[in-house]
Amino acid sequence: MCHDDELPDSTGYNIEVTKPHDPARDGPFSRRLAWTVPENRLAAAEREVRASGRRVFDLTGSNPTAVGLPYPAAAIAAALADPAAVHYQPTPRGLPAARAAVASDYARRGAALAPDRVFLVASSSESYALLCKLFGNPGQALLVPEPSYPLFAYLARLESLEARPYRLLYDGHWHIDFATLDFTNVAAVVVVSPNNPTGSYLGRSDWRRLAELAAEAGVPVIADEVFADFPIAPARDAITAVAGCPTPALTFSLGGLSKACGLPQLKLGWIAASGPEALVEPALANLELVADTYLSVGTPVQLALPRLFEIGAGIRASIHERVLRNRQRLSERIGASSPCTLLPAEAGWSAILRIPETMSDETWALRLLRDASVLVQPGYFFDLRLGATLVVSLLVPPEDFDEGIARVLSAVESV
Ligand SMILES: Cc1ncc(COP(=O)(O)O)c(C=O)c1O
Repeated sequence: MCHDDELPDSTGYNIEVTKPHDPARDGPFSRRLAWTVPENRLAAAEREVRASGRRVFDLTGSNPTAVGLPYPAAAIAAALADPAAVHYQPTPRGLPAARAAVASDYARRGAALAPDRVFLVASSSESYALLCKLFGNPGQALLVPEPSYPLFAYLARLESLEARPYRLLYDGHWHIDFATLDFTNVAAVVVVSPNNPTGSYLGRSDWRRLAELAAEAGVPVIADEVFADFPIAPARDAITAVAGCPTPALTFSLGGLSKACGLPQLKLGWIAASGPEALVEPALANLELVADTYLSVGTPVQLALPRLFEIGAGIRASIHERVLRNRQRLSERIGASSPCTLLPAEAGWSAILRIPETMSDETWALRLLRDASVLVQPGYFFDLRLGATLVVSLLVPPEDFDEGIARVLSAVESV
């Protein structure tokens, strides 16, 4: 919670998107960039603390290649060294063998998908960009869940769209607040399942209702499933693969090597289309035109993809093990009488801690950094509205995680 006298100096999205365009101030740059991104107080404090030479226990790291996990470097390099990569075959949808490998990977998660429903892209962020180009007209809205991942405002704005939030409600589980879904002048509706940072899957009844509303409004659904491979404790009605669910709406499931195989540096993601045949076919044909304009996926990574999925299974297992270990330790460390609560999570790489509302979560994060050298993210970064909350990454190396959490709990418990 933010008290009036200590409002954070930016919104959760950390972006001011309503600023009218002013050529005198904004210069020659596109209106899409007419946003202000003030350095938030936490980033400024982090700079100061690091400059002082103090060690910081960083509980925010989300780059799997930078948290001390074992990576089979030689095997990855060998997979990328196929001499066939000297030939360029421009294919807007992606090379057929690579698309077949993605379809097989969906089958591993129980979703039957034909390879011709798969499009390869450079990343999930690029998937959003291509789909916004495919469906959006300038000024339209992209419906996005809140709380969620804070990049949507930027992704939408760069496509001349506006991110329009709909709320997720928490009552021990996360649900869509359907009263906040406004389908007026909408390009597409985004669901993130599992969501980041709430770790919540879309439940079956929410999915049915959302897909029906979207189909009625003629609005496509973008289902971001990048964390689907990291279950923690899925609820019984959780949808663990939107791609495999019957849907009356034109639906695009997003995934990528970045999370599923812990390989963000290889820049390969995918879009899997489903829904009524009469909508899917023309959508794919038009998406092909958009993708053909960029042809952004490199040949070596496409040729390597079947092998990368094999190698990635091991990396995924070590990420999953790390996440489960840290979460388990966190839950053990928080005693029954602690004023700190660990919110349940069904999946993902993050944990949410609810802490006493004696000050705003931003002030908590600043104090933890300055007084205890621990870096955490305040819940307002994600538009969590559950009193004071902190978000920690479960990817952090175990020793740093344990020490960082001990410091957070000691600060919170001494209030
Ligand atoms: C929910 C969600 N979707 C997409 C992405 C971006 O994924 P990619 O690296 O494939 O662009 C992230 C990154 O953290 C994310 O949290």
